[in-house]
Amino acid sequence: MAEVIVLDTKEAGASLVADHIAGLARTNPAVTLGVATGSTPLPVYAALEERAANGADFTQAAAFALDEYVGLPDGHPESYAAVVNREVTQRLGLDTARVHVPDGTLSGIETAGERYERALTEHGGVDLQLLGIGTTGHLGFNEPGSSFASLTRVKTLTERTRQDNARFFDSLDQVPMHCVTQGLGTILRARHLVLLAFGEGKAGAIAQAVEGPVTASMPGSAIQLHPHVTVVLDPAAASALQHRDYYRWAQDNKPAWQGI
Ligand code: F6R
Repeated sequence: MAEVIVLDTKEAGASLVADHIAGLARTNPAVTLGVATGSTPLPVYAALEERAANGADFTQAAAFALDEYVGLPDGHPESYAAVVNREVTQRLGLDTARVHVPDGTLSGIETAGERYERALTEHGGVDLQLLGIGTTGHLGFNEPGSSFASLTRVKTLTERTRQDNARFFDSLDQVPMHCVTQGLGTILRARHLVLLAFGEGKAGAIAQAVEGPVTASMPGSAIQLHPHVTVVLDPAAASALQHRDYYRWAQDNKPAWQGI
């Protein structure tokens, strides 16, 4: 079962995760982070920027993004290549040569998934994968129906996800229809999954992912198949969890040596 940690604010959750990542980078400077985009992980990146300003060194760390839109012009500010560069690479002081994002360029899109899988495998995989969850339950852009064995490939976004992400664009029709996303099978290969969710809008998806049946209709439920998952929530995102009193109890009585 995933470890579920509920903290009073998203900043407190972000701080916990940032401390853990800074610790990983201390013991293994070449740590590989799987990075998500969207708004959820932003407080983690802000907290990591603070750790970097206070001496944490991420210059040898590597990062692999979860996904990319297909067909946005090179340098588009909402392409995930640009977002990862702005929010992760620059803020943490990563080496751009060690930061990877799937290639959403139209020419050669047929092989983008395969190329990304190869890069991930040759690199040796991801140590810690940060994840957000969509209101549809998607992880990465694996929309409902995605196979738990899926690898990086082109997917079609649901209308709901396009509407959710329209806030980053000037209008809905500018939100791409397609993306290249790590598959659920790819994500499950990462050695530690850290799923973050904040706010009431995520409560339903979190309850289904953590406690619901394991089904391709709820891609988030794939986390139940992974041996090391930490779910970090604020009280609103945790509000629909049936066993939240137990999670709190386990958290309050956790042996200090365990970490996350
Ligand atoms: C982003 C990603 C998505 C988002 C999800 C939640 O790289 O893969 O799964 O994590 O859409 O988005 P936010 O955090 O904006 O609510």
